[in-house]
Amino acid sequence: MTDIDGAVALVTGGQRGLGRAFVDELLRRGASKVYATARNPEPSADPRVVPLALEVTDPESVAAVAAVATDVGIVVNNAGVLYPSPLLTADIDNVRATFETNVIGPLRIAQTFAPVLAANGGGALVDIHSVLSWIAGGGAYGASKAAFWSLTNSLRTELTGQGTQVVGVHLGFADTDMVKAITAEKVSPAQVATAVLDGLEKGENEVLVDDLTRHVKAALSGPVENLTIRIGR
Ligand SMILES: NC(=O)c1ccc[n+]([C@@H]2O[C@H](COP(=O)([O-])OP(=O)(O)OC[C@H]3O[C@@H](n4cnc5c(N)ncnc54)[C@H](OP(=O)(O)O)[C@@H]3O)[C@@H](O)[C@H]2O)c1
Repeated sequence: MTDIDGAVALVTGGQRGLGRAFVDELLRRGASKVYATARNPEPSADPRVVPLALEVTDPESVAAVAAVATDVGIVVNNAGVLYPSPLLTADIDNVRATFETNVIGPLRIAQTFAPVLAANGGGALVDIHSVLSWIAGGGAYGASKAAFWSLTNSLRTELTGQGTQVVGVHLGFADTDMVKAITAEKVSPAQVATAVLDGLEKGENEVLVDDLTRHVKAALSGPVENLTIRIGR
């Protein structure tokens, strides 16, 4: 169980989309300070929000953030990219960038902030995956989220000793820039933030945000050919 009231949090990609909703909901629940990162951060009118520049694929950028955010107790690994393309025709540079941002980036954040969380009493690491961690149809993005899911599960065991709660988050579609070209039922970013922070406060290890995600998780023990999705554009 992680107490948000009075906590200091860091949200990667915290100035738009789901990240911004996490920042707002953390503050609503009483967080005393939230570091909200962006590659080109904008100032905030709220004194509790500390904008920081972060490029998760750049080790020096991650180290610079860690040098400032030494009081963090909750880290939300939210930043991510989606380059929509079938695997067979995907630009390999985009595949590499997808894995650099969605897999290596959050691992680098976890490695860098694990000692910070330990020094601040254990705290929590929240990793934002996707329903596409489990189903075909998401190309390199889905593959990256499957890898990220696996990382999260191993990090949970590695961080148990220092008392860090590790929450893996899966969701279908939320109404942000990332999926604006996709026609699908979408939840609001605020709904996602509420579900995730409810789970964090209750001490859960995993949050399944929507019905699609709960349905897919239940189908994992069934035939693999049922684990597919057609994304409308
Ligand atoms: N929306 C959905 O339907 C959905 C569903 C499942 C999972 N997710 C996941 O939820 C997370 C947030 O997605 P979103 O929907 O809010 O997407 P979004 O609106 O496209 O925002 C992406 C966020 O990631 C940050 N980012 C991207 N590349 C980065 C990099 N190299 N270094 C640092 N920050 C970087 C962006 O920061 P800048 O401001 O610097 O651009 C931005 O804040 C992602 O991990 C995504 O995969 C989203």
